[in-house]
Amino acid sequence: MSKILLVDDEKSIRITFSKFLGNAGFEVLTAENVEKALEIIDKNPPDVVVTDIIMPHYTGMDLLQKIKEKAYDIPVIIMTGEPSIDTATFSLRYKAYDYLQKPVNKSDLVHTVEKALEYKKLIDEKQFLEEENKSYRDNLEKLVDKRTAELTDAVTGSIQTISSMLRLRDPYTADHDTKVGNLAGAIAKKMNLSKKRQQTLVVAGYLHDIGKIAVPSEILSKPGKLTDIEYQIVKGHVQNSYEILVAAKLPWQIEELVYNHHERLDGSGYPRQKKGDELNLEARILMIADVAEAILTHRPYRPALEYTKLIDELEKKDGTLYDQDVAAVVKDLFVVDKYKLENKNMEFEFFVENE
Ligand SMILES: [Fe+2]
Ligand SMILES: [Fe+2]
Repeated sequence: MSKILLVDDEKSIRITFSKFLGNAGFEVLTAENVEKALEIIDKNPPDVVVTDIIMPHYTGMDLLQKIKEKAYDIPVIIMTGEPSIDTATFSLRYKAYDYLQKPVNKSDLVHTVEKALEYKKLIDEKQFLEEENKSYRDNLEKLVDKRTAELTDAVTGSIQTISSMLRLRDPYTADHDTKVGNLAGAIAKKMNLSKKRQQTLVVAGYLHDIGKIAVPSEILSKPGKLTDIEYQIVKGHVQNSYEILVAAKLPWQIEELVYNHHERLDGSGYPRQKKGDELNLEARILMIADVAEAILTHRPYRPALEYTKLIDELEKKDGTLYDQDVAAVVKDLFVVDKYKLENKNMEFEFFVENE
């Protein structure tokens, strides 16, 4: 049964209106002043409030304001024997449901209350739907987070597996890949690239030489100089890496980047002799990270070289081979930040948004 709170200081009105509303099938609560009405509302909120305006101490306007301030979704019907612009405006501002002028007859009262109840029902339904919608969204978000974590683990696992396979066959390449990825990520971070771009470079580094899996290990670990044919076979790793990564369909677009890691800005690299603007910033970072690691690390065919050799390489041909802004960042990284090449796989954060 719908509950109506009737607030009026005149006892006769309370009695008469209670009868009207009671006969119409409502449960009626009454209060002779605002304080009592608020007590009832706080304890057991009614579905509709019908209130007089002029009462001793607090007015019906005070009651309306309190109800709205407390965020009760209760329609309030104002009744007054002395209508005024002020109270009408106030009622409008505080969203009173209706403003009735006394004397109010039975059918007007019952009809207005019934309409207020329908309105209240709509408010309740809307609130219910909003709550349901919110809990649905929360659950969906949790599910997406869970699935993302699972997918992250799966992809990380795949990369670790590839890395371990490569390590079994050729520890140099595996360590090299990891160190290049970490260095490329560190360069990107120092250049304030977005997290997504940093991650892309790390993963590209980790997998850039994956195509070496198809190069015979005696060639990869040959201590002496390679013959022309052997060199061509080694160079073929870029195409292999590209094709493997296209097929892998990783969440990052690294295949094109990996394809370009042996290119040079002046077009003297391989396999496609890309140059200048055809090589984006990521490609420019990856190629320097690759070269830096190769020079600063011990190789089967030679010991680790000095940092000065890296500078020589970066400045070769008047600095036309490499991006000089990236080169400057790398010099800073090693000289100022004392960066150390690391062969520990770093944690990935997948699907980071573009910043
Ligand atoms: Fe390579
Ligand atoms: Fe490499």
